[in-house]
Amino acid sequence: MPRTTLDVPHAPGYAAPPAMRHLLGIEGWRRDELESLLDRAKAHLPGAPDTTHLLRGKVVANLFFEDSTRTRTSFHMAAKGLGASVLNWTHTGSSVSKGETLLDTARNIEATGPVAIVMRHRSSGAPHLVAKHVKCAVINAGDGTHEHPSQALLDAFTLRQRWGSLDGRTVLIVGDVLHSRVARSNLHCLKALGAQVVMCGPPTLMPPGLESLGAEVTYNLDAVLPRADAVMCLRVQLERQEQAFLPSTREYARLFGLNAAREERMKAGAVVMHPGPINRGVELAPAVADGARSVILEQVSNGVAVRRAILEVCTA
Ligand code: NCD
Repeated sequence: MPRTTLDVPHAPGYAAPPAMRHLLGIEGWRRDELESLLDRAKAHLPGAPDTTHLLRGKVVANLFFEDSTRTRTSFHMAAKGLGASVLNWTHTGSSVSKGETLLDTARNIEATGPVAIVMRHRSSGAPHLVAKHVKCAVINAGDGTHEHPSQALLDAFTLRQRWGSLDGRTVLIVGDVLHSRVARSNLHCLKALGAQVVMCGPPTLMPPGLESLGAEVTYNLDAVLPRADAVMCLRVQLERQEQAFLPSTREYARLFGLNAAREERMKAGAVVMHPGPINRGVELAPAVADGARSVILEQVSNGVAVRRAILEVCTA
């Protein structure tokens, strides 16, 4: 992973996270590096000392070639919280429709002077390519079915907030693992932080090789559910499916949906997570999404603090 670790000064009183030039993925991170970034994110929670001096006068460019609600607004809020101005570029209404290439778009955005480009693209590896051709920091906000590092970091942050440590905890990731960059980044992140990761979904939506990455794989949700300390439901990504992977969403909900009856069989204190957007009534029943175990909106709130820490260390 093209990432440089440097010694940089940080605000006194906080552990110094490793300084990164780019954040392209979680694969390859060491536990101490993850922990130091997650510790740093605590300094960006609401009520923490003002951090608007960190990027005052600087610009962060959001470059979103794919739709987004949470990630784009979260990076926007994070950049503003560091005092930066934000350039919000989206593919709709841009010269992409005139045939402009990814690199031309990225280089032209860079020429306007941002300190970081936060980018989402439907092709796996797109941010890696851009990172080779620009001088500013590149932060991957989701590339195809590959990685979504900031999501995994905010998920880990939310679990650490509850549990302190992830050691010995079991996180069950349920759903369309095949198409999920969230699942891939989470697998790397959760394993590195000491959790056990169980992946569950229909066989057609489970990629090969998960065991070799350290996950336990099962196709039987009901059997594994009572063991989980956290259940992370994934959206069935119909927009990425070129072929029919499922007989129907109703069938999917029956076998893999987290409904009220299943929720009752979860461990005491176990939490329900979802990266959003939720297909209500498919992977998650509305009563569970909005119920007492749900930390879904905590994930969103924590996302801002975690992304402030990411922007801070990428631009240090
Ligand atoms: C996810 C994504 O875009 O990868 N959402 C998000 O960023 N919070 C998951 C999804 O689209 O299902």
